Amino acid sequence: MTFETRLRDNAARTEALLGTLLSGDTHADEITRPKNLLDAMRHGVLNGGKRLRPFLVIETSALLGGDSTAALYVGAALECLHCYSLVHDDLPAMDNDDIRRGQPTVHKKFDEAVAILAGDSLLTLAFDIIAAPETPLPDDRKAALVLALARAAGIGGMAGGQALDLAAEKQAPDEAGIVTLQAMKTGALIRFACEAGAIISGSDATERQRLRRFGEKIGLAFQLADDLLDLTSDTATMGKATGKDAARGKGTLVALRGEDWARTRLRELVAEAAELLTPYGESATVLIETAKFVAERKS
Ligand code: IPE
Ligand code: IPE
Ligand code: MG
Ligand code: MG
Ligand code: MG
Repeated sequence: MTFETRLRDNAARTEALLGTLLSGDTHADEITRPKNLLDAMRHGVLNGGKRLRPFLVIETSALLGGDSTAALYVGAALECLHCYSLVHDDLPAMDNDDIRRGQPTVHKKFDEAVAILAGDSLLTLAFDIIAAPETPLPDDRKAALVLALARAAGIGGMAGGQALDLAAEKQAPDEAGIVTLQAMKTGALIRFACEAGAIISGSDATERQRLRRFGEKIGLAFQLADDLLDLTSDTATMGKATGKDAARGKGTLVALRGEDWARTRLRELVAEAAELLTPYGESATVLIETAKFVAERKS
């Protein structure tokens, strides 16, 4: 199976599960699911997307012998959290974007209040999915996933990184400051995706640390590629507005160091990521291909 087929295959399985999880049927302890809010959540989640984070959960878990159903559920949980971050990132108070994944952003199709609540509900749904009985994992692994995801998503992770990103529009950070903000706003969830595979499979601390470091490398590569694409690609290809980082004075490494430096750095990060997986030999091929995909992607 080619890498692209494998990515698409996993995306289809993740989407099918997300469709079920975002149905109108209430769970135990839920009273009702307001239709407009559910429609907004579905719009924010079931509208395409590469599904890269679930793919990383599934593939790192497979590498380490984790349960594939558990990995599918944890990947879906992480995708809900990622989609929440996009819905809020696009809000007028943040990046003020009208197009996401080739469609109107949630606040454009619905309204701002509904977009905020759809984000809130997707964030909490992520933890619901991990803790729910349908996710076949022992309680101690669920607790470890909940803790790691909370840390990756909160003030010391994605949300904190978004705060630094907005502050950087007013006062440009130095290179180290940009690396920190990117490791947080984007890197933390990607690092979690890789670390989750180790938690699902009950790996030891050394293995978990190795996967975590792999995730850190590709997390940095992912945002560097995003910043490069913002400069060099177009809305039709990306499904979102481009050319906005420079216009808003975003602190990016591409702005600071230029395109050529960024491309060289991307190659280095892929090599460093691949190096970390040498203990797994051939079994790590898919993950190494994923690192290349992250750096070389066109959308
Ligand atoms: C976009 O993430 C936001 C960033 C962290 C740069 P993706 O490029 O993974 O977006 P989708 O999920 O494929 O739409
Ligand atoms: C977003 O970074 C990171 C998130 C936490 C959502 P960007 O603002 O660069 O992402 P895009 O370019 O809008 O997808
Ligand atoms: Mg942003
Ligand atoms: Mg944005
Ligand atoms: Mg961007």
